[in-house]
Amino acid sequence: MKNPANNLGGAANRRSFMKKGLAAGTGALGAGLMVGGVPLLARDRDGDDELTRGDVAVLRLLAAAEIIEEDLWRQYSELGGTQDKEVSGVNGGNPLYAAALQTLDPDMPQYVHDNTDDEISHARFLNRYLMSKGHRPVDLDRFRRLPSSQADGARQIRRLTNLTELTVDTSWWTRYRSTTNPDFGSTFEQAVPSLSVGRHPAIPRSNADTAGSELSNPPASLSTHLQAIAFTAGFHFAFIEQGGTSLYHTLSQKVHSREVLRILVSIGGSEIMHFQTWQDKAGNAFPLSDVDLITGSSVTFTDLTKGQPETLQANLIMPEPCEFISNDLPACAVIRPTGPGQIDAVGAIQSFIDDGLFNGHPLFKEFTTLLLDMAREADEARPDV
Ligand SMILES: [Fe+2]
Ligand SMILES: [Fe+2]
Repeated sequence: MKNPANNLGGAANRRSFMKKGLAAGTGALGAGLMVGGVPLLARDRDGDDELTRGDVAVLRLLAAAEIIEEDLWRQYSELGGTQDKEVSGVNGGNPLYAAALQTLDPDMPQYVHDNTDDEISHARFLNRYLMSKGHRPVDLDRFRRLPSSQADGARQIRRLTNLTELTVDTSWWTRYRSTTNPDFGSTFEQAVPSLSVGRHPAIPRSNADTAGSELSNPPASLSTHLQAIAFTAGFHFAFIEQGGTSLYHTLSQKVHSREVLRILVSIGGSEIMHFQTWQDKAGNAFPLSDVDLITGSSVTFTDLTKGQPETLQANLIMPEPCEFISNDLPACAVIRPTGPGQIDAVGAIQSFIDDGLFNGHPLFKEFTTLLLDMAREADEARPDV
C-alpha cells in the first residue's frame, strides 16, 4: 500500500496547486490538465459531465469517514495486526494484545491488517476521485492531536481517534438476528449491555494493561484484563463496520452520478464483508468480567454460543429476513437500516461521537462541528438535483 490517502504523498504541492487553480476559476483550466496523472476535469465514464453538489458532498463525507476509519484501524493494526511497513509501521506489534485477539480467531492479526489496508485504500481512492473531478480532497490532518498508546508496538504519532474510552453500542448484534427493522421504528437490545455504557479501552494504553500476561509457556497465559480489552475490540470492529455498511447503502440512494453510485455500492460491499467477518469473530468471546482501574468501568462478556435466544445466538450470523419497504411485502434478508434518519451521514458521525472516538480531543467542538456540517450537506443530496 503506497501513498496513504490522507497523506496524499507529496501532496502539499498538489493541494496548493489545486487551491490556486480553483481560486482562478475552473473555467480557466483546460480538460487536458493533469493532477497527479489524473485528468483534472475528467468526465464520468457514463458520460455525465460533472458531479452534482450533492454527489461531491456525499463523497467528501465518505472520504472524511474513511480517514477516521483509517486512523482507528491503524492503531489496531500497529498493536494487533500482522506487521508490515506500509500498514502497521515497523514497531513489531504488541504480541500480547495480538495473542488476546487470537482467542477470537487465530487469523485475527491478518484480518485486522487487511481491514486497515482496505480503509487506507478507501480514503485514498475517494480523495483521488474527488481530485480527478476537480474537487478538493478532504484533509483532516490538523485534527491529528490525540496521543498514541504508550504500549509496546504503537507508533508515537498524533491521532484523530481515541480507542481507550469507548462506549460500544452492540445492538447491531440483535438487529441482524431479529425479524424487525429499525427503518420501521424497531429498537434492539444490547448483546453486551456493559459495553454500551461506561468507558472501555479497546487497546492497551500502556504496558500496564498487558502486565500479568505472558507468551513464553504455550499456551499463552493472558490476564483477564487484557482479554477484556481484546474482546471489547472484537465487538468494536463489528460496530464500526456495520455502521459503514448502512452508511454507504443509505447514501447510495442520494447520489446523482451513476459512477458515484457504482463507487458507493462497491466500497459499501467491502464494508459488509468486514462486518460479517467481525460479527462471526466477536461471538467467540468467552465469559469473563473485568473492572478497568483507570476508567472505573466494568465489563462482562457471557457465552453467546450456547443456550441463547435467537436474537443473541452467536452462530446466527446470516441476516435474518425482516420487514422491508412495506409490511404488505414478505420478510427479506437485507442490510438494515438503509432508510433516512438512521445511519445516514449525520447518524454515522453522531455514532462515532457517541462511541467516544473523539473523547478528550483538544479540538473536540471544532472537529465534531466540521464533521456534522459535512454530514448534513451529504444528507441533503438528492439523486435528481
Ligand atoms: Fe471503509
Ligand atoms: Fe470500514
